[in-house]
Amino acid sequence: MNIPRRSLLAAALLAPVFAAHAAPLVMGFSQVGAESEWRTANTASIKSAAKAAGVTLKFADAQQKQENQVKALRSFIAQKVDVIAFSPVVESGWDTVLKEAKNAGIPVILTDRAVKVADPSLYVTFIGSDFVEEGRKAARWLLERAAKTPGAALNIVELQGTVGSAPAIDRKKGFEEVIKTNPKLQVIRSQSGEFTRAKGKEVMESFLKQRDKKIDVLYAHNDDMAIGAIQAIEEAGLKPGQDIVIISIDGVRGAFEAMKAGKLNVTVECNPLLGPQLMQLAKDVVAKKPVEKRITVEEGVFTADMAAKELPNRKY
Ligand code: AHR
Repeated sequence: MNIPRRSLLAAALLAPVFAAHAAPLVMGFSQVGAESEWRTANTASIKSAAKAAGVTLKFADAQQKQENQVKALRSFIAQKVDVIAFSPVVESGWDTVLKEAKNAGIPVILTDRAVKVADPSLYVTFIGSDFVEEGRKAARWLLERAAKTPGAALNIVELQGTVGSAPAIDRKKGFEEVIKTNPKLQVIRSQSGEFTRAKGKEVMESFLKQRDKKIDVLYAHNDDMAIGAIQAIEEAGLKPGQDIVIISIDGVRGAFEAMKAGKLNVTVECNPLLGPQLMQLAKDVVAKKPVEKRITVEEGVFTADMAAKELPNRKY
């Protein structure tokens, strides 16, 4: 084919102009809800990162219901977004809708929480924390503390997150894996507090009412439930952080304030500020660049004695 030189020159000159006006990437994002301080920070990070990256964000809040997330995903497919990202409220039940996205040629990125699907090619990549390791970190801290009073039995109560969610399943698993190495540590009660302050308080009240066994330790799968439980413990006339040792996960400001006040002993960090990495990942995925299947986040452990110094540095 003979293309006149003048047309080639014109095309070369106009290319940057068209590129500058190329349509922005459109991302459909389905969020779990607004159940915790962590989630609020995660949503803010995603919204501000989308703005900064020039990504058009279609954001849907599922109010902790899987059916709402499935509806949101289907609506994103119908709108032909460039990429779908979501933080699945629970692990199972995603095969059908993810197949629909795949058939429509829309790549899916999991953020924060994982799914259990028969075919892992139904999503491109998963960015988020290692929840099993978070549970292990919480338990290792307790083992070290228990080592200071060898032989003493410790009764633990556990506030689990949302039933069927990846963080609830994994944080329980990681914690149990480590504490079973010391038979003096026993989980005597375990119930879901749905990752919320209100439910954490309610369940802790019911734990405290059952007076058959003394409670030595509370392990809460997130800070919000621990903060709710702290209220219940105080209302029962006990000193949180002293009469009952409290361990939780997330590392939100509320937890640092509670640690500074001596009411919470330790929080294991779970970083919600995933927005900037997610936007870059979305651009790479849409550009068909190779990406890792699993991207984890670096996180620390903060104890009460570190709280006052760390509090001013906390970003969420
Ligand atoms: O999936 C992350 C968890 O979900 C956070 O630990 C919790 O606070 C949130 O609701």
